[in-house]
Amino acid sequence: MAMPHPSEPLQEQCLELAISKRASLADDSQTTAYRLVDGEADGFPGVVVEIFDGVWLVSTLGKQLPALFRESHVDVRALYWKRLDQDQKDVPQWIWGERVDAPFHVLEDGMKIELSMQTGYSQGLFLDQRLNRRRVRDRMQPGQRVLNTFSYTGMFSVAAALVGGITTSLDLSNPYLQWGRRNLEANGIDPQSQYFCKGDAMSWMKRFAKQERLFTGIILDPPTFSRSDAGVFSVQKDYDKLVHAAAIITEPAGWILATCNDRRLEHERFEVMVREGVRFAGRQIVELTHTPMPEDFIDEHYLKSIWVDLA
Ligand SMILES: C[S@@+](CC[C@H](N)C(=O)[O-])C[C@H]1O[C@@H](n2cnc3c(N)ncnc32)[C@H](O)[C@@H]1O
Repeated sequence: MAMPHPSEPLQEQCLELAISKRASLADDSQTTAYRLVDGEADGFPGVVVEIFDGVWLVSTLGKQLPALFRESHVDVRALYWKRLDQDQKDVPQWIWGERVDAPFHVLEDGMKIELSMQTGYSQGLFLDQRLNRRRVRDRMQPGQRVLNTFSYTGMFSVAAALVGGITTSLDLSNPYLQWGRRNLEANGIDPQSQYFCKGDAMSWMKRFAKQERLFTGIILDPPTFSRSDAGVFSVQKDYDKLVHAAAIITEPAGWILATCNDRRLEHERFEVMVREGVRFAGRQIVELTHTPMPEDFIDEHYLKSIWVDLA
């Protein structure tokens, strides 16, 4: 059940405070997408607000849009509202301002990303992975191969390809792979120079193992549950198997980024599963590093990110 909202004057104060906390992001011309309000920690229980190049997306656990957001504010391009309901998975609803009917681009660390308010429940970018994308870009060397599993709109691939990485984007969905191609193009990378695989991540990794096709880096960012021809995948039960499959096809001295946004999976348990997966593959860990969430995420630190450097 959603928590009651504070009164409107109090909400206004909370919003002003949230805006002032994100001042450095607002001033960063190379990043135009970030989280402005992060739930209870910003005084808005059950509410998050994300900014996409001046378009505000208010997401609520409750069935009502808080009064503060119902009317137009100066300096905001448009406001859309989305109910956080994993069963309904509604498309965001236009509330006021410009009707953003066509796909548009935002920037993250200078990378262009195509977003859409019409395509579905998700708009094309998971903001909580910003620091991981930055880290991929920082640690890649030209010519290294990276496998981006569950690639969605391919932004980890863009980050890697921008520094000369050779990327393989792997996803169940053809429309998302196409979206990934457009994101590469938007950043001046010829999609023909990169690889794309459609299908189940686990099945493809097993196939790569048979082909002895290895990668310098592998990104694992699965949804909580997934159903495919290969069966049902659940992070709670199967994450160690995913790491196992990845560790087998990681080059010597390569790395795996294992991330998981399932709030029910504790950090400690997640690390155990990651370690187990590596051990089952007969590989040695040189270094295991937990990385934090971006600074605009100040509520619960639900996203677990472990970078595993292998021997
Ligand atoms: C949680 S998102 C991944 C987020 C993405 N890594 C990112 O950084 O934006 C889920 C994606 O996984 C894909 N997917 C779901 N089940 C899959 C499976 N079994 N194998 C490969 N991709 C899958 C979906 O099509 C969707 O694009």
